[in-house]
Amino acid sequence: MKIAIMGAMPEEVAPILEKIGTYKTTEYAGNKYYEATYKGTELVVAYSKIGKVFSTLTATTMIEHFSCDVLLFSGVAGGINPELKIGDLIVATKLSQHDLDITAFGHPMGYVPEGSVFVETDKDLLKLSKEVASELGKKVIEGVIATGDQFVHDSSMKENIVKHFNADALEMEGGSVAVVCNALNVPFFILRAISDTADTDASFSFDEFMESSAIISAEFIMKMVDKVISK
Ligand code: ADE
Repeated sequence: MKIAIMGAMPEEVAPILEKIGTYKTTEYAGNKYYEATYKGTELVVAYSKIGKVFSTLTATTMIEHFSCDVLLFSGVAGGINPELKIGDLIVATKLSQHDLDITAFGHPMGYVPEGSVFVETDKDLLKLSKEVASELGKKVIEGVIATGDQFVHDSSMKENIVKHFNADALEMEGGSVAVVCNALNVPFFILRAISDTADTDASFSFDEFMESSAIISAEFIMKMVDKVISK
């Protein structure tokens, strides 16, 4: 088994690389991929750069070029669900693309023909995350994550995303990674720690909390790696 661990930004994978220790760096298609053997299992770690296009490229590369057969994503998100405070964790049960819009042709937001509004997370990985959460005594909210190529810092945009997708959090990569993994039959798991609440002061909150929230997410993801390895 080979496990892909993905983030979007350097800060999201740095705490993971720190934990892994030694790794080999390979450059491929404009990105760096970090390969390591961790507790006897092969890992490939990478950050994609921000957004749906770069994350699609990285997820596809990890699966098709590096032959990973499970993908775990760690990073930060903007919270929508009022229960989610800065530093809290959310696990996606399903993901959507909130900026995919051909409503002009009578389709719902997030839908294109032969696609689906939501892509569901692997049930076994969700079960493992519940075990990790209870072992760590950590509250983790399960919910809908909406993905788009915008840093959302506006309450009306947030409300619109809730209206169409009933989303609990939003970010810029999970939905595209989900589409790739689903199409290639690779189980995936998307975890995010809240860095901001996607309203007017979101950019300031993001700057202040992105790094600390990324560490919280990375710590949980490494426990997920341990669980996946021991299964
Ligand atoms: N990731 C973290 N916060 C975000 C926000 N407000 N919008 C989009 N992606 C984010």
